[in-house]
Amino acid sequence: MKIIIAENMEEFNEIAADIVSRQIRNKPDSVLGLATGSTPLGLYALLADKYKKGELDFSRVKTFNLDEYRGLPKDHPQSYYHYMYENLFSKINIKDENVNLLNGEGLDPYKVCADYEEKIKAAGGIDLQVLGIGHNGHIGFNEPGTPFDSVTDLIDLSERTIEANSRFFESPDQVPRQALSMGIKTIMQARSIMLLISGSGKARIAAKALKGPITQNVPASVLQLHPFVTVILDKEAAEYL
Ligand code: GLP
Repeated sequence: MKIIIAENMEEFNEIAADIVSRQIRNKPDSVLGLATGSTPLGLYALLADKYKKGELDFSRVKTFNLDEYRGLPKDHPQSYYHYMYENLFSKINIKDENVNLLNGEGLDPYKVCADYEEKIKAAGGIDLQVLGIGHNGHIGFNEPGTPFDSVTDLIDLSERTIEANSRFFESPDQVPRQALSMGIKTIMQARSIMLLISGSGKARIAAKALKGPITQNVPASVLQLHPFVTVILDKEAAEYL
């Protein structure tokens, strides 16, 4: 596990964007796994900027998003579909047919999840998975207690996650109670992983995930077992490392 501590968010975003850019330049048809949340917003802005300057070409890149709320229409401002188009896809030359998101509106979420696993396999697997971390250590929406061999599935969100994500909704009762998420095994099958952790609010969970025991109670701790993980933290998140 390679741990990089950035001086500030500008450097944090640049390091992250360099890793993604290098991946795409080395393999123009890379398969990227993408995350949502506030943490990767700066990364996506820089990638869009690099595309605008002619430094990056996404025409052969494929993406698979980690997760999606269950029951939110695609055009809902808080759906991850909306987030991804708003913050990245509408600003780069990725082809719609190369964009993959879990359909949270599907009538049969279990089939949606099983099909997603097959689609990832058919694309040759994920080359680089971008990850954030929840305050409780979740990756994707894999909450504490999720078995390490889990695959893409319908998840019940924990109270902690509903509370954390309620800042994006008018009230906590508007936050969906369920989500579809890649499993921990699905994430671990990526050839390389970049975990982004920023802010003092993540400092304790960062130390637990990166230096603590590997346990299902801290889902991100499983990443200690992956051979190619780069973790980027800002100084605040690195306080207890
Ligand atoms: C959300 C997402 C995760 C994300 C995490 C942290 O619930 N499902 O994929 O990494 O929480 O989000 P943030 O970066 O906003 O703290």
